[in-house]
Amino acid sequence: MTLSTNARDIVTGAAPSVGTPMDRVDGRLKVTGSARYAAEFPMSNIAHAVIVTSTVPVGRVSAIDTRAAEAVPGVIRVMTHLNAPKLPMKKVGMFGTNALSLMQDDRVRYNGQPIALVIADTLERATDAASLVKVRYGGTRAPTLDMHANKGTGYAPPPGFGGQPDSKRGNVPAGLAQADVKVDAQYTTPIENHNPMEPHATIASWEGGRLTVWDASQYVIGERDSLAGVFGLTPESVRVVSHFVGGGFGCKGLMWSQSPLAAMAAREVSRPVKLVLTRRQMYGPVGARPQTEQHVVLGATRDGTLTAVRHDSVSHTSRFEDYTESCANVTRILYATPNQVTTHRVVKLDLGAPTFQRAPGEAPGTFALESAMDELALKLGMDPLELRLKNYAERDPESGRPWSSKSLRECYRVGAEKFGWARRPRTTGAMREGDVLVGYGMASATYPTYRMPASASVRLTADGSGAVRALVQTAAHDLGTGAYTVMTQVAADALGLAPEQVRFELGDSRMPPSPVAGGSMTTASTGSAVHAACMAGRDKLIALAIADTASPLRGALAAAVSAAEGRLFLTEEPTKGESYAALLRRQPNGMMDVRVDSAPGAELAAYAMHAFGAVFVEVRVDRELGEIRIPRIVAAYGAGKILNAKTARSQLEGGIVWGVGMALHEETLVDRRTGRYMNADLAEYHVPVHADIGMIDVTLLDEVDPHVNPIGVKGVGEIGITGVAAAIANAVYNATGVRVRELPITLDKVMGEMRV
Ligand code: MOS
Repeated sequence: MTLSTNARDIVTGAAPSVGTPMDRVDGRLKVTGSARYAAEFPMSNIAHAVIVTSTVPVGRVSAIDTRAAEAVPGVIRVMTHLNAPKLPMKKVGMFGTNALSLMQDDRVRYNGQPIALVIADTLERATDAASLVKVRYGGTRAPTLDMHANKGTGYAPPPGFGGQPDSKRGNVPAGLAQADVKVDAQYTTPIENHNPMEPHATIASWEGGRLTVWDASQYVIGERDSLAGVFGLTPESVRVVSHFVGGGFGCKGLMWSQSPLAAMAAREVSRPVKLVLTRRQMYGPVGARPQTEQHVVLGATRDGTLTAVRHDSVSHTSRFEDYTESCANVTRILYATPNQVTTHRVVKLDLGAPTFQRAPGEAPGTFALESAMDELALKLGMDPLELRLKNYAERDPESGRPWSSKSLRECYRVGAEKFGWARRPRTTGAMREGDVLVGYGMASATYPTYRMPASASVRLTADGSGAVRALVQTAAHDLGTGAYTVMTQVAADALGLAPEQVRFELGDSRMPPSPVAGGSMTTASTGSAVHAACMAGRDKLIALAIADTASPLRGALAAAVSAAEGRLFLTEEPTKGESYAALLRRQPNGMMDVRVDSAPGAELAAYAMHAFGAVFVEVRVDRELGEIRIPRIVAAYGAGKILNAKTARSQLEGGIVWGVGMALHEETLVDRRTGRYMNADLAEYHVPVHADIGMIDVTLLDEVDPHVNPIGVKGVGEIGITGVAAAIANAVYNATGVRVRELPITLDKVMGEMRV
């Protein structure tokens, strides 16, 4: 793989590169089709595998007839629980194997579960043969699929990625007793499926006892460990490669069944195997955002001061996992109320395991909380923005820690001004244009800032012509979001080179480890590692020079030497120095290597770290048809240092678009008899299209955060979706007087209800 930066793509060639809206370094590869995605890796003698999925939600495979499938020309093997290899299925690394369906027994635990795998010489023959596998089921029973009706079976999940299930401060009943005004409302959000353009796709190949997997992955190190556990291998004998990912959004963060199934098949048939899920197979066996039911109680005095808050969230999980949509986490930190209780409970249903989806917890959580805040403002007769300012949290109300930085007040101010919030009429239905009702709504946005340990390596080389190149590597990921680009920028500045001289590589578990590309933490984690490695590289160059009799810098103090534009020189006497090229040419093989491990430190315990934002929305609702249009969304974010405004803005706009989908379109429907997803394709599962999106105006505040991490970034992958659905619901109320507490806000929920 070659990732070269085309000089013409650089908007600003001059240093520093960080902070400039540089074009994507992989843009040319993408638009010319030469960026290689998992399923596109060229491989000779490859076989194709197609999954057969269950058509009942619970029971056993009592008989499976594969004869017709095996008779199809080109079919190499039909694998079922009867002949699949028995696997060690151990937990290695962070993730267990509960959510995998690898045909280790005859049990069916959800509709859409992989129960057979057909391997053939072509995709068409494998697909044809898969349709001929006949299955009989036994031991079936009526599935449990209604989370709301089964709320009583909800349990407090073990603390996991969403943190503790419960939180409590102060005394909620006492706080409610002081309240003049209360809101007590229930909000629901449906199951929402990930629809990356690229489905899950795997190529697996064995060489002796060593496994290589080309995969669409948000976490190559995690997948390496998971594969090692499943097959009983050492992590060193597994390699996972994922150079390009066509969208992840959380669904490619954990390893799902298709990767080990491809590896099982490849080992059984002794040739490389490719396995790509169909769009329909993206619904069921590979996770989704679970549905939620959220009960929010707010109490406030006349002046809008919150005296008590309760947020009880229930979400569904599978029979075999405890995945929790931690909706109330946002409530724990957003407003400074002294009395608060929040809970997360999960209800087991006969469905495939849910999983992380963009801003897991915060996306549905902000819908409930920020809708309830709007309802409270209405009852108080207060401006919704005023209410939020009244309860502004000057420090993290949960931990009591100061914020590493917080610009939410500025986000409110800038967003409101650009939007024209002051023109918002207080009475509902006051703005009309013929049959169209116009409404304004707003909400807060927030997402935590995480950072995990990460490592990176740098190799500097000089060729005969004196050209200096840097190769920077770490096992990180670019989900299409711009990691290749911003890492190139960070490395270039730290090394004192132009971006064109840096080649940044990622997505290979053999590289120094990086964390999951999730939790909006790639830039904070991997970026800090790249920065540290490149600064170490620069220091090493200086150390080599001052110790080298052949260098004009020999004997200088390291602190007196600067590095810029590919040259080392005395800061006080810039003409005295030498080029990196000259120095490198005197090194063994003309190169210098350095590798650095980086990790967060004491700042984690000292500060609360979150990005914040404010979203303002205009909706237009047809009074007769209930049709909702969104001509305008204005949002402002304080997310630390913005390394590249172009890629950052794209991420935020993408998050906002998803927020529109969440508000108006997205809903996975489950057949209540069979547990089968009924709208498992892009025709029936609606995501926004261009015609659904009007103007989106994103402001990135200039936020300086000296504490959060060495490069001062907070991450922008997920905050964009937060708050949007509430802002839209609030605007719909402002336009129509209809409060929709059940997402999505489809026209049937608005039509006929309008009181204006
Ligand atoms: Mo994100 S849902 O943490 O990939």
